[in-house]
Amino acid sequence: MYAERVLSGMRPTGRLHLGHYHGVLKNWVKLQEEYPCLFFVADWHALTTNYDSPQIIEESVWDMLIDWLAAGVDPAQATLFIQSRVPEHAELHLLLSMMCPLGWLERVPTYKDQQEKLANKDLSTYGFLGYPLLQSADILIYRADKVPVGEDQVPHVEVTREVARRFNHLYGREPGFEDKAREAVKKLGSKRARLYLELRTRYQQDGEADALEQGHALLDEAQNLSLGDRERLYGYLEGSSKMILVEPEALLTHAARMPGLDGQKMSKSYGNTIALREDRDVVVKKIRTMQTDPARVRRTDPGDPEKCPVWQFHQIYTDEATRDWVQTGCRSAGIGCLECKQPVIDQVLKEQEAMHERAQPYVDDPSLVRNIIADGCERARKLAQETMRDVREAMGLSYS
Ligand code: TRP
Ligand code: SF4
Repeated sequence: MYAERVLSGMRPTGRLHLGHYHGVLKNWVKLQEEYPCLFFVADWHALTTNYDSPQIIEESVWDMLIDWLAAGVDPAQATLFIQSRVPEHAELHLLLSMMCPLGWLERVPTYKDQQEKLANKDLSTYGFLGYPLLQSADILIYRADKVPVGEDQVPHVEVTREVARRFNHLYGREPGFEDKAREAVKKLGSKRARLYLELRTRYQQDGEADALEQGHALLDEAQNLSLGDRERLYGYLEGSSKMILVEPEALLTHAARMPGLDGQKMSKSYGNTIALREDRDVVVKKIRTMQTDPARVRRTDPGDPEKCPVWQFHQIYTDEATRDWVQTGCRSAGIGCLECKQPVIDQVLKEQEAMHERAQPYVDDPSLVRNIIADGCERARKLAQETMRDVREAMGLSYS
């Protein structure tokens, strides 16, 4: 079976909240059951915007990892690691920087957007311009097929695809490619070879994406191929150069928009969050003091759930019967707002309890997390080193 590889990263810039849980982590937990997954702490990326205050990064790394584990990310299923502990990312970033046109980076929408949004910081730095290219290196070094990201990150995956294509075009060309590729086809054995060529025609002539996928599957199953032949056959399937780096695809996380306590998107910068592992009392207090429909001044005033952030929480946390009860009770002033909030409080506490429980062993013994990361880094490094061998060779850097 052809197992596509999934990779994603998160910057350590503070404690995680329920927005991260519902928007990102729940999705990771699901993906880890379906694909081989790599999830990593993007500490270098955090430095691009926090180079003047690195303490927050240092403080956040381990807490963030415990938050991942609390959410159900499972180190037995997914590989967890820290970017800076796999220095090969930096080497690939450097090598890609040689051939990445400046304009590609200047045109990425987050470049200007973030500079404007974070106007209090000087982000006209070399590192910040290179942010999407470092991200490309993160992805390409594992030959990841799928990259789960939010909408704002899709342009970064797009650049990654372009960089991979350009790299393969520049360095995947070798003298006599066609002949070598045809020789390699023969090594598949006659039955497989025939199928391979048929799929190649169907893809190149008729543009059948399906055929390309089947072709990849066929190559993944084929044994006894040298690394070089494998790359040739991947490349020959699609065009006329070796495929050294794989073009990834963005897996758009369908925006489970988690509202904050004030009804805006939950975000640290709005100060409207509930932490992923919050104290029980704080959860209760935060929800009890949450804004409601401003028109409901007195208990006897009827309200409109559509104008109330509590209603948005009901949509995430409570069942249909409860929601019917809210709709009727609110509009008729039959229930009070505190009463209305109680089922939400109960459900959030229940969710948090499970997270506290999963986190407890790691809080009690931090060496458990250190060991998980040591393991993950080692596994990640092996994969990264394989790619770097091919990259160095392709770029003429493997002198002996
Ligand atoms: N830029 C991503 C974010 O801010 C984090 C990230 C870094 C990432 N490298 C990555 C995400 C590689 C996916 C793949 O969310
Ligand atoms: Fe909001 Fe519920 Fe109060 Fe209506 S009853 S205003 S939905 S908290």
